[in-house]
Amino acid sequence: MKITNLQTGDIYFGEKDQMLIDVLNQNNLFITAPCGGKGICGKCKLQLLPADTPVSPQDLKLLTSAELENGFRLACTFPLTQDISFFPPEEENGLVQIWKRTEDATFGIAVDIGTTTIEMVLVGCSGEKLAQFSMLNRQKSFGADVISRINYTIEHSNGLSVLHQILLHQINHMIDRLTEEYGCPKNAVKKAVVVANTTLIHLLLNRDPRSIAFYPFTPLLKEAQVLPPEALPIHAQEIDILPCISAYIGADITANMVYFDLEHAKKNILVVDIGTNGEMALAANGTILCCSTAAGPAFEGANISCGVGGVPGGVCRVWLEENRLRFHTIGNRDAVGLCGSGAIDLLAVLLELGIVDSSGYMADFSEVTSITGMKIYRQSIREVDNEKRIYLTDKVWLSAKDIREFQLAKSAVFSGMQILLREAGLAVPDRLIVTGGLGNHLNIESALRIGLFHPSLKEVIEVVENGALAGAVQCIDSAEFERSKRYKNTCNYIELSTHPDFSELYIENMEF
Ligand code: FES
Repeated sequence: MKITNLQTGDIYFGEKDQMLIDVLNQNNLFITAPCGGKGICGKCKLQLLPADTPVSPQDLKLLTSAELENGFRLACTFPLTQDISFFPPEEENGLVQIWKRTEDATFGIAVDIGTTTIEMVLVGCSGEKLAQFSMLNRQKSFGADVISRINYTIEHSNGLSVLHQILLHQINHMIDRLTEEYGCPKNAVKKAVVVANTTLIHLLLNRDPRSIAFYPFTPLLKEAQVLPPEALPIHAQEIDILPCISAYIGADITANMVYFDLEHAKKNILVVDIGTNGEMALAANGTILCCSTAAGPAFEGANISCGVGGVPGGVCRVWLEENRLRFHTIGNRDAVGLCGSGAIDLLAVLLELGIVDSSGYMADFSEVTSITGMKIYRQSIREVDNEKRIYLTDKVWLSAKDIREFQLAKSAVFSGMQILLREAGLAVPDRLIVTGGLGNHLNIESALRIGLFHPSLKEVIEVVENGALAGAVQCIDSAEFERSKRYKNTCNYIELSTHPDFSELYIENMEF
């Protein structure tokens, strides 16, 4: 069967009955697929020609009648039965930012492989940050979270190799583009320091990650690695990988601990990294405790109808002004979707107006009592397919179901924080550092309003853009890399799923 890309003119070939998404993946066209191709998230929709191709039950459930009429179908439930053409989604190519020029002859590169985004920084001889580059992780086509990616390696005989190759290929592509745009030779990269969660470290090293997904959650490897390019073909003369602490506390959290120097903390410091998961570490009374919550990827935009990661055009701030909802997008582009921080802002406004109540229920118009609430209701809320939605633009909305996803995610993170603080005998730490994918644009007032943090924490919250990447930059210095290895033994991991208080707190903290 012939498949034509209407943007590039490229032609791909697939077998009869092969799923469209699989053919596209094989041809390095990685479209977003947060549910890993299970037909439940609706994010892999593509516009096809002809427009009257067969419709799957999942298409009927997840696409609007206008989308169906215009030829949109879910690529993961579309078996090839005829030649088709399609419009690809806009590819996010990423942007290289150059901060400083030097005459250095050698460089280091720090790489933070996030489940959603890969970020890297070019570093000069003296440790100065020179340039940065970030792109969406192309593995997003294999699910938004690490469990979907592990499942892919279990369900496909070549799954591990596919995910390993995609990651290697993307990292090398990014190193090449970063060095080229900076104007330094590729072979001038002496060292690459890599951090990531434990699953992605396994995929990078081509090691089977399945033991991470099943009790007793024992990863195959946690140790720090120093590898030559012959062992891991990354475009650098040496590749250093920070150690992981457990299946769900990865090298990215170790990097955070190095950066915030938890080992020598004089005060009680709680670091919460909110990305696709919510991982946290608390330094208190001379010990370090850590845990990980399966927060779900809502904060990074997955599982949310119009959710996006921190991409240009993502709505990252929402506020009320003169009885209207106003918003700001990343890069001041046209709105393409809703980032976690934008959704949290919007939710805070709706709670304030009484349109959503503390249980997460979205009121009917007749139940709203404030004048502003009624005005916003009239302007922005519509019922589509038996579901209430708050529209920021015709294409960007938050639904009642999305609000439930945020409830689950914020409760998981908040409950994890409470457990760590309780275990250390603390009510409030001296510092609460919020970092990770959500940290970049998070409005603290909104986060407090939706109950992501307890009001008593207000005075101690600091937002830091990306502690994991900063820690990786720091570990380009060999002494710091050596220091990172100590956290593997000094950090005490608390498994929340078996903690006696967690389930109760999780239910209790569900209220906004
Ligand atoms: S519906 Fe196709 S990837 Fe989720």
